[in-house]
Amino acid sequence: MPAIVLVGAQWGDEGKGKATDLMGSGVDFVVKFNGGNNAGHTIVIDGEKYALHLLPSGILTPSCTPVIGNGVVIDLEVLFREIDGLEARGVSTSKLVVSANAHVIAPYNRTLDRVTERFLGARKIGTTGRGIGPTYADKMSRNGIRVQDLFDRHILEQKVEAALRFKNQVLSKIYNRRAIPAGEVMDELLRYADRLAPMVADTSLLLEQALNDGANVLLEAGQATLLDVDHGTYPYVTSSSATAGGACTGSGIPPTRVSRVIAVLKAYTTRVGEGPFPTELFDESGEFLRKTGWEYGTTTGRPRRCGWMDTVIGRYATRINGVTDFVVTKLDVLTGLDTVPICVAYEVDGVRHDEMPVNQSDFHHAKPIYEVMDGWWEDISGCRTFAELPANAQAYVLRVEELIGARISAIGVGPERDAIISRHPLLD
Ligand code: GDP
Ligand code: IMO
Ligand code: MG
Repeated sequence: MPAIVLVGAQWGDEGKGKATDLMGSGVDFVVKFNGGNNAGHTIVIDGEKYALHLLPSGILTPSCTPVIGNGVVIDLEVLFREIDGLEARGVSTSKLVVSANAHVIAPYNRTLDRVTERFLGARKIGTTGRGIGPTYADKMSRNGIRVQDLFDRHILEQKVEAALRFKNQVLSKIYNRRAIPAGEVMDELLRYADRLAPMVADTSLLLEQALNDGANVLLEAGQATLLDVDHGTYPYVTSSSATAGGACTGSGIPPTRVSRVIAVLKAYTTRVGEGPFPTELFDESGEFLRKTGWEYGTTTGRPRRCGWMDTVIGRYATRINGVTDFVVTKLDVLTGLDTVPICVAYEVDGVRHDEMPVNQSDFHHAKPIYEVMDGWWEDISGCRTFAELPANAQAYVLRVEELIGARISAIGVGPERDAIISRHPLLD
């Protein structure tokens, strides 16, 4: 069977967790392929709320095997806190498999993430402070610590000492922080090694066998297209590949196996942290979206910046990811507005841009060109077919679909698992 990729189309928090959960029992394996505990996915099942950070969203479906792929960076303390929290609520985590090649977030990288941000002051990125950037930097500069290193004490000691030789100089001499003793790092890294050992596998091989056996494999992104380190609003991005291309490198599944790419698109736009955001609203409309959509970060609790739907970004996501299907979420949040603007293009210094400007400086001062649609007042949270939606809500969805250039196969009308309108099946 082929593999399916699921990504975020905007700046994250589109409702990827819910979309993954939605496919639930139709999927045999859910693989997290990038990011770490900077992600926060809220899933609501029968009124029970689950906030997942490191674990793939498939963990809430008993028949599904959750996999943490090689492209992920793991904070072991957070992983086991999340596992214990779910087990205490009766959710089994016994099927979890973790790639031997995934990297581990060492305590010095958490510290470096936070002190670097403080040092940058007004030029900060607004990271989640979880050590994500420094850990991926170590991976690329070949100083990283991998899951498999935890089981070879000699190698681990060598790697920690080599890393600290440099990191402690930076911490103490540049940031005026205390140097971190190697013993402290070793203790933290080895604390969970015995519990982790039985979960560790060659996940690429496991997934290849699963696909050969006819299993459905879903590759689930953390973050989103515009937070991707290559294709996002650099440097205001995360440090991993959050787009469809990253699904292959982050899981060890070749591109020839992927048959479908599903992108999750919120019916409006949000962003956490710094960086450009053309349709951002600073008035009561922005406040309306924040309050009605409950736009506060799952991971850091920060209020999310809110703005109207930007279909230039939607088209960009279609192109970069090769999107075959969109899941539009939170359409219910737009209920009660007289008019609903859709950004169709930008104006930069008097020039119209229908695509993302080549130079990011232009994107920083791009002015949205809006097409204004009529709003609707009817409560749509109980709608389960497209035909049940008010005519103006239907018109909004159809116009967005036309502008983003790929079909909208499902529409979210509430946070609950079943609050969804299906237009085309997401699984073959
Ligand atoms: P993720 O990081 O992409 O998984 O998204 P988050 O979980 O951070 O944020 C999405 C939020 O929207 C969560 O609180 C979800 O419960 C909620 N949500 C998802 N889909 C819908 C929807 O269709 N309507 C409403 N009202 N809420 C939704
Ligand atoms: P999910 O998976 C929204 C943002 C941070 C910051 C930037 C870099 O829930 O959609 P990092 O800690 O990754 O180095 O921070 O990326 N960011 C997210 N924003 N949703 C996320 O994940 C995010 N993960 C990182 O706010 O601007
Ligand atoms: Mg989130």
